[in-house]
Amino acid sequence: MFNKPIHSFDNRTVLVVGASSGIGFEIAKALEILGENLIVAARRADILEANFSQNTRIPVDIADEEAMGKFFELIRKKNLDIDTVFWCAAVYSPMTYIDFSYKEAKKITCVNLTSVYYPFFKITQTWLKERDKFLNNPHWIWISSVAGYVGLPGSCAYGPTKSALNNIAESAFVEFKPFNIDISLVCPGFVDTRLTKKNKFYMPFIITPEQASKEIFYGLKRGLFEIHFPKKFTLILKTISLFPYKLIFLINAKLRGKNN
Ligand SMILES: NC(=O)c1ccc[n+]([C@@H]2O[C@H](COP(=O)([O-])OP(=O)(O)OC[C@H]3O[C@@H](n4cnc5c(N)ncnc54)[C@H](OP(=O)(O)O)[C@@H]3O)[C@@H](O)[C@H]2O)c1
Repeated sequence: MFNKPIHSFDNRTVLVVGASSGIGFEIAKALEILGENLIVAARRADILEANFSQNTRIPVDIADEEAMGKFFELIRKKNLDIDTVFWCAAVYSPMTYIDFSYKEAKKITCVNLTSVYYPFFKITQTWLKERDKFLNNPHWIWISSVAGYVGLPGSCAYGPTKSALNNIAESAFVEFKPFNIDISLVCPGFVDTRLTKKNKFYMPFIITPEQASKEIFYGLKRGLFEIHFPKKFTLILKTISLFPYKLIFLINAKLRGKNN
């Protein structure tokens, strides 16, 4: 077992970042029972307002460092000792290196990657410094993607940010283990959300956000490091990523052709 299994969130204080739609929304809804021990964050204040209680929601743009400073100040004022984080926020645009937009690539990298360092540092430093405060192993759950397994055509900017998240989770897992801080990496295949609505191509084995959140909670119950689903799809991609490049490029070119 990699992590301390989470059978119940009853004694936990949970932060869900990216809770206004899709996978993060489903996770946050399932944890609403925690009342004031749940914090939900995203940019769209109106959606948070319509779906979550006032004490729970904190609208914030994770790419705005000043706003993130205020965000942590608010959490400090609430006297909340967050011990579990679901990091679900990300943006995506289908894009190749041929029809490349520098502006878009910069935005994707900023939200999906650069913006994760400050909150990750801030929260894990508290976990390290105030270890005795926490009854449970603090646990950080990264929602990454199978797009991080191997360079896929059409996933430029987004794919690299997810490879980087996988890398962060792998190294952080080992570094934090001696301090009883748990790290999980979630790699979903296609999930039917606002994000995938942008795809014009066929998405095999696509699942609902409800199914995705159930898989995540089940994986946490089993103490897994990597939670990946649906297996029919993720195991194929994992196998492909082990192939020699000659084969990987052939398969990718075929897929690209099919989707053009
Ligand atoms: N859908 C899939 O097929 C799929 C597959 C693999 C991995 N994933 C990953 O799963 C996670 C959730 O994605 P999803 O599919 O559920 O998409 P989604 O419905 O678009 O959710 C993305 C969430 O991120 C938030 N967000 C984006 N930019 C933000 C910012 N600057 N500041 C704060 N919050 C921000 C969005 O809220 P606001 O717009 O209100 O800020 C939204 O709540 C992402 O990490 C995604 O990469 C998705």
